[in-house]
Amino acid sequence: MTRWQQIARETVGPDYAQRYAERFRAMAARGDDVHGEAAFVAGLVDPPARVLDAGCGTGRVAIRLAELGYDVLGVDVDAAMLAMARDEAPELDWRVGDLAVLDTGQRFDVVVVAGNTIPLLEPGSLESAAAHLAAQLDEGGLLACGFGLDAAHLPGDCPVTPLADVDRAFAAAGLAPVDRFSTWDRAPYDETAGYVVTLHSR
Ligand SMILES: C[S@@+](CC[C@H](N)C(=O)[O-])C[C@H]1O[C@@H](n2cnc3c(N)ncnc32)[C@H](O)[C@@H]1O
Repeated sequence: MTRWQQIARETVGPDYAQRYAERFRAMAARGDDVHGEAAFVAGLVDPPARVLDAGCGTGRVAIRLAELGYDVLGVDVDAAMLAMARDEAPELDWRVGDLAVLDTGQRFDVVVVAGNTIPLLEPGSLESAAAHLAAQLDEGGLLACGFGLDAAHLPGDCPVTPLADVDRAFAAAGLAPVDRFSTWDRAPYDETAGYVVTLHSR
């Protein structure tokens, strides 16, 4: 069982994938903005740029990007989460894959890693995931990652992955820092922030 599956089963239950999809549908129905990540990507490149949604889960980000005209691929290691994505958008490309060994055979303009996928990686796999994410980017391509930096911004008992570790792993993967925010709508980052959105380029 992955770290995500363990946390999701403990905090939500065995039907966690369905409940995750339902939670975002309910938020959208209430009028909440659930597309901050897609809007962030849309501010980086114009459609029909190629975007990899890495750790896509139920497809929330990729589906929105496809609606905006982007050419998207969604990859996740959790078949139950991906089944929700496939149900909602069967016309899109969804693949089961582990970011720590990922080889899509394609190159992307943007790789987006949303929804705490970084701290949910398996222990000891950050460096390998960073290298494999970087390898999916075209020269000059952008990697955008958003994740919590404290317990209030992480699911269940997910451990914090220190930002310095992520910076080191990305540097080792040949990625250069471009910018950093504390929200997907580009609020400035400072060291008290409980959430970070990192932007790197290859
Ligand atoms: C909280 S969900 C977020 C899903 C989606 N990105 C979103 O924002 O709605 C985290 C996802 O990361 C995925 N994940 C964690 N480690 C992964 C890995 N090594 N390879 C692929 N997916 C992974 C989990 O399976 C889960 O679907």
